[in-house]
Amino acid sequence: MVKLLRYLKPYRAAALAAPLLMVLEVVMDLLQPSLMASIVNDGVMKGDLGHIGLMSIWMILAAVCGLLGGMGCAYYAIRASVGFGTDLRNALFRKVQTFAFRELDRFSGGTLVTRLTNDVMQVQMLVQIFLRMLIRSSMLFFGSIVMAFLISPKLSLVFAVSLPLFFIFLYALLSKSIPLYRTLQAKLDRVNSVLQENLNGIRVVKAFVRAAFEKVRFKRANEENYEVGLKAARLLAINNPIMTLLLNACIVCILWIGGAQTWEGGLAIGSLAAFITYVTQTLNAMVSLGNTLMNISRAKASSDRIIEVLDTPSSMVEPATAPLTAGTPSAPSAPSALYGQVEFRHVFFGYEEGGEEPVLKDVSFLAKPGETIGILGSTGAGKSSLVNLMPRLYDPTEGSVLVNGVDVKSIPLEELRSQVGIVLQQAVLFGGTIRDNIRYGKPDASQDEIEAAARAAEAHDFIQSFPEGYDTQIGQRGVTLSGGQKQRISIARALLARPGILILDDSTSAVDLRTEARIRTALRDRLQGSTCFIIAQRISSVADADRILVIEDGRIVAQGNHAELMVSSEVYRDIYESQ
Ligand code: CTP
Ligand code: MG
Repeated sequence: MVKLLRYLKPYRAAALAAPLLMVLEVVMDLLQPSLMASIVNDGVMKGDLGHIGLMSIWMILAAVCGLLGGMGCAYYAIRASVGFGTDLRNALFRKVQTFAFRELDRFSGGTLVTRLTNDVMQVQMLVQIFLRMLIRSSMLFFGSIVMAFLISPKLSLVFAVSLPLFFIFLYALLSKSIPLYRTLQAKLDRVNSVLQENLNGIRVVKAFVRAAFEKVRFKRANEENYEVGLKAARLLAINNPIMTLLLNACIVCILWIGGAQTWEGGLAIGSLAAFITYVTQTLNAMVSLGNTLMNISRAKASSDRIIEVLDTPSSMVEPATAPLTAGTPSAPSAPSALYGQVEFRHVFFGYEEGGEEPVLKDVSFLAKPGETIGILGSTGAGKSSLVNLMPRLYDPTEGSVLVNGVDVKSIPLEELRSQVGIVLQQAVLFGGTIRDNIRYGKPDASQDEIEAAARAAEAHDFIQSFPEGYDTQIGQRGVTLSGGQKQRISIARALLARPGILILDDSTSAVDLRTEARIRTALRDRLQGSTCFIIAQRISSVADADRILVIEDGRIVAQGNHAELMVSSEVYRDIYESQ
């Protein structure tokens, strides 16, 4: 948890001011009972009105000082902790942006949301409690013991009995409640993730009429959360009466022993009253210290989860310096002979490091600049995995991928990705207008450029058919697009940047055959000189490609153009006949 302290650094002034102001408040709090004792002993008992008046003024002054101290402390503590929380959340967000696909496979969206909101909140609360309560409680605890001792060393012997008793009780309580709170946090996580999953898949839930099942699932998660929460609350509920009981027992003892002393004249009545107040303060401070410990243990679980994200390095390592060889992408305006070339050299790839069977096995091929390469294969064969290596969404486990004749690992990521346009298999659109979605990768694109890209993707016509055209809002509060419409907007988005290499991962699967053919023709016109990879399920989508790679079980089992493959590859003929 100490690791997170560096996010408090920018707020160290406030983080220092808060405890200092708290010292002021506590000192004033500690003074009050003594002033009170003086009023009783020297004022009331002796009938000295002047003394009572003077002491009353002192008491009011002390109270005002204490109030100012307390308010100042609260102000600075909140400032420091809220600033801390904001910076921490920002740091987490920035970290998540550096994550490669591999890390994103590991942390689901749901847990990242919980970590960035709830977990940060817990730690932020702890910082505040730390700056206010911890200092206050420990100072009150020791201060009150000292003050009580000053009044009557003999009576202070009650501490010798009551403190160990309190300690044992608190220890028992904490050792039960701390694990309980850990479980509670885990249960809350579960509720969150069931909810998240349900919301993400709510359409599937409806389509399969599984609402009843989902209700039970959520109810169970929710009830488990409730049960643990109830247990924790029950534990806390017995805490208060027992503490009060112990405290009252202490007071009875003090009155018994102290009362006798007062009777005999060894102790003034006012001092006895002050003594009781100090004992009460001491024991209350102890309870509050216990609560703080509980908060620390709760926040510990959260801070572990935060640190886990912060400490996960991105598996995508940027090259130290741009390569200086000929044909480097650092001069895309002057394409060399290799510009647009893609080569795989004995590539192996697997999603789990050291996992059993690799997903890609010994894949080698060369795509020359300007070629159109079709990729065919059954579902799960590894087609998406293969193309994802080109813009370096993942790194191969063995072998190398070369783009423009240079190993992708030595090309700065931004440069590489500006040249390799990919339309991912799952079309993703953001909330906003259609225009914003198309120019996502090139925010300064002109309307002409946007329209040209949309035309090539056969999206212009249907966009125009909306009353608001390119300004149509999509997403949460706007129109919902069909699968094929989404795909075409995704294609337009990739086309806009005129990438040297374009990858379409099954991007026309939801588009009818005629539209698909038109998109292919438009692409050919627009992307002259660009290398194209087209993954498809239908042979007709790739039949006119320069070369077709047939993938089976992570291997290239055949390659050639349509005519060649019809002669040489049985697998290809099988697919052809099945269609
Ligand atoms: N896979 C995985 N983790 C991922 C993605 C895929 O373990 N994040 C596995 C899949 O289970 C599959 C294999 O990798 O066994 C190949 O997946 P993929 O390349 O996506 O297959 P495609 O050929 O693209 O299949 P489809 O036609 O269905 O898109
Ligand atoms: Mg795929």
